[in-house]
Amino acid sequence: MCGIVGYVGDKNAVKILLDSLKRLEYRGYDSAGVAVLDGRKIGMHKASGRISELEATLPKMNGSTGIGHTRWATHGAPTKENAHPHLDCTGKIAVVHNGIIENFQTLKEELINKGHVFSSETDTEVIPHLIEEFYVNDLEDAFRKTISKLEGSYALAILSADKNGSVLAARKNSPLVIGLGKNENFLASDVPAMLKFTRKVIFLEDGEMAVLEKNRVRISTFDGAAVKKSTQTIDWTAEDAEKAGYEHFMLKEIHEQPRAFRETLAGRISELDGAVRLGSIGLGEKKARSIRRIVLIACGTSFHASIFGKYLLERIVKVPVETQISSEFRYSEPVLDPDTLVVVITQSGETADTIAALREAAGQGCTSIAITNVVGSTITREVDGVLYTFAGPEIGVAATKTFAAQIAALYMLAIHLGKIRGTLDVESAKRFITNLKSMPWKIQDVLDEKSEVEKYANKFAQSQQFFFIGRNLNYPVALEGALKLKEIAYVSAEGHPAGELKHGPLALLMRGVPVVAIATQGLTYSKMLGNIKEVKARDATVIAIASESDTEIDKFADYVIRIPDTGELFSPVLAAVVLQLFAYYVAKKRKCVIDKPRNLAKSVTVE
Ligand code: BG6
Repeated sequence: MCGIVGYVGDKNAVKILLDSLKRLEYRGYDSAGVAVLDGRKIGMHKASGRISELEATLPKMNGSTGIGHTRWATHGAPTKENAHPHLDCTGKIAVVHNGIIENFQTLKEELINKGHVFSSETDTEVIPHLIEEFYVNDLEDAFRKTISKLEGSYALAILSADKNGSVLAARKNSPLVIGLGKNENFLASDVPAMLKFTRKVIFLEDGEMAVLEKNRVRISTFDGAAVKKSTQTIDWTAEDAEKAGYEHFMLKEIHEQPRAFRETLAGRISELDGAVRLGSIGLGEKKARSIRRIVLIACGTSFHASIFGKYLLERIVKVPVETQISSEFRYSEPVLDPDTLVVVITQSGETADTIAALREAAGQGCTSIAITNVVGSTITREVDGVLYTFAGPEIGVAATKTFAAQIAALYMLAIHLGKIRGTLDVESAKRFITNLKSMPWKIQDVLDEKSEVEKYANKFAQSQQFFFIGRNLNYPVALEGALKLKEIAYVSAEGHPAGELKHGPLALLMRGVPVVAIATQGLTYSKMLGNIKEVKARDATVIAIASESDTEIDKFADYVIRIPDTGELFSPVLAAVVLQLFAYYVAKKRKCVIDKPRNLAKSVTVE
């Protein structure tokens, strides 16, 4: 998730572009750049780091037509070379992009065979070279032909030295807004970028292209049919806009999970042949077959994702899997060997405990992979391979969308290793991938029913103690539900494997204590009903999370929150979304500071 901007008018473009980019930094902040048309010459400046870094090193740039970009790296480390804009071989076409070009590798090889020279590792750079390839004297035509070659998601802004006074744009699966001014027009990934200049906007839809000039905006479909668009007036404050109208970044990020899940899978799974392409993990077939043990190491929410990974990998790959809390692993004198695959899970890639644990494992000759959300983060430089999640930057301290994306990554790893090691056949892999591809919609279905969750959260918001119980793949979700409530609502909450209650925690239950029981269909459903009966026998109050088609559960639980029917390997993702919402609404009811809870940090870079 990056931020792109564009400007056409009479004012100095670079000043406006920088101002707009600063308001999009919540979308990505690891490198940035601008390009401005000065007569028939493109002036460009890029820098790694935040916009302030770009501004501090900016040379004098003239021109009143320009584009800009603030980056959240997905392909290629956050360096100056990989920062946008990207140029073609002639330097006369500049492009900024937000999204992922899934077929960029194929396109890049074709272009290199035709003599194009690339200067970055990005997926985006194929676009200016493609436009150059098609460009004769009609830029719009060359742009349309280029778009027809692209697979994936993109919001694009294009500048051409031959067309001063115009910015071209296109949108597919990535947001893009046009801002209407007097003798000037604006373009941006999101409204906050332009609120200072205009409140009159046009939202582009997927499959639409635009040509911006200072006194005119033309919008058409990709195949050239003119489109009439309605103008909307935005009445949000800039801060509201950064949250896209949500009250908190956490709620916004909970709602970004369908996209985070989809983009993490994008370009790496194929339903046709049941294939998962994970070239970046650097695990060759021979090495993958030689693995005798997998150790998953992480902290906080990422540790809960690792417990989920253990159940999943053992079930699919049939190899012993251990989970380790980084700070404990670090000093436990672990016994490892070169046939052990170590997987460190860390959304930030900067958690000191996890980095130290990795160094311990690497010191014993283990092969290591990181599952992380930040390209170029420290962890990526210390492992043998990286499996990136593409959730975009997460601002809320309590992790939500990165948890869903980590689970998506673990599914891909399980399929990948299962197929190589012959423990998962092609047909099962295809079914698995079909289920995975349906998840973004099912997550959306859960989000659409959030008022149901809010109802129960408000009902129990003043409880001083909560229990979350689950079995098998739902156990780590129970832990995550408890952690969310502790993190943002400051309430005492415990997550337990449901079968473990009778060995101690049951003593804490009494009349009215809320117990959230994750009782979705699956291997352990009937056992879960037994545990719910145990809890009810102590007069506690049971809120069950159950599958839509479950007709039994009402006989056992006091309240039921239903989630869409889906396989038992997939329902935990949906239950996790319910528990994130539950914690959010309890914290909201208790008037807590949700995005920046006390005593916590988004990433702890000290041991
Ligand atoms: C904590 C965060 O500091 O670190 C948690 O508040 C997070 O949300 C944990 O789960 C681990 O972070 P990471 O970046 O290593 O996944």
